[in-house]
Amino acid sequence: MKECIIQTQDLVHTYPTGVTALKGVNLSIYRNDKISIIGQNGSGKTTIVRHFNGLLKPTSGKVLLYGTDTTQQKVGEMSRKVGYVFQNPSHQMFCTTVKDELEAAPKNFGFTAQETKDAVEEVVELMYIKDVLNVHPLTLDYTTKKIVTIASVLTFKPDVLILDEPTGGLDEAGRVMLTNIIEMMHRNGHTVIMISHDMDYVAENSDRIIVMCEGEIIDDGVPEDIFLNAPVLQRAQLEPPQITQLDLYLENGNQSRAILSVKDFVDKYKQNIN
Ligand SMILES: Nc1ncnc2c1ncn2[C@@H]1O[C@H](COP(=O)(O)OP(=O)(O)O)[C@@H](O)[C@H]1O
Ligand SMILES: [Mg+2]
Repeated sequence: MKECIIQTQDLVHTYPTGVTALKGVNLSIYRNDKISIIGQNGSGKTTIVRHFNGLLKPTSGKVLLYGTDTTQQKVGEMSRKVGYVFQNPSHQMFCTTVKDELEAAPKNFGFTAQETKDAVEEVVELMYIKDVLNVHPLTLDYTTKKIVTIASVLTFKPDVLILDEPTGGLDEAGRVMLTNIIEMMHRNGHTVIMISHDMDYVAENSDRIIVMCEGEIIDDGVPEDIFLNAPVLQRAQLEPPQITQLDLYLENGNQSRAILSVKDFVDKYKQNIN
């Protein structure tokens, strides 16, 4: 059986303003899961993931990280295991050069000078950011900013990588790079949790989808099932990926498994022709 890394038990979170953003959420996340969390703005996606590394604490209920209550663990140690990439890159960057930005986490986590150097070199090569090392992060274009914030978390290879709306504002090259990063982390046994509004991207880059609506999880399953669940999608005000919709239209809604990519679609209809 897969190891459970994160578990929430009746998790409730009420902000000081009185808004209850999570209304009793029960969720288990397993090693090597490749999860997308989807749902309307304000449904509680960011609030739930911020509990996974202790950035937020439950109002009631519990969050367990590796079986231990997050209120009993140090935030610094949890953020070494669970790396969180903010939705807005400007909220994550606080150094005056990209190089300092990339070195910050490894240094903070006690890497030696050599380990820090090696870790930074590896992500710089992986993400093609050598040319911007001496640039002030806040002067970068949006895609590069986003890439740098992802790189700054990859330096310490967290067990769990959380990406909060990583595709928003990314250009095509950035999306390809993001896909490669997700694949690499997944292949190496890490757990990846992505929040996204881009259903086409979600369909092609998740093994499991969690649907949130008004502070609750209303569905949790494989993309092939989730994108056929019309009542759930309607409640969450989400539409299936375009290619899924096209297949649904052609089949009059009679399929048992959602088509998730153009490749899926072509394979299916080629078979029908032959
Ligand atoms: N720092 C905060 N203070 C008060 N309310 C907040 C805060 N962050 C989020 N909320 C509220 O909590 C609810 C869930 O927000 P959030 O988790 O950010 O949703 P999502 O990420 O799905 O858009 C919303 O009603 C939002 O307005
Ligand atoms: Mg959010």
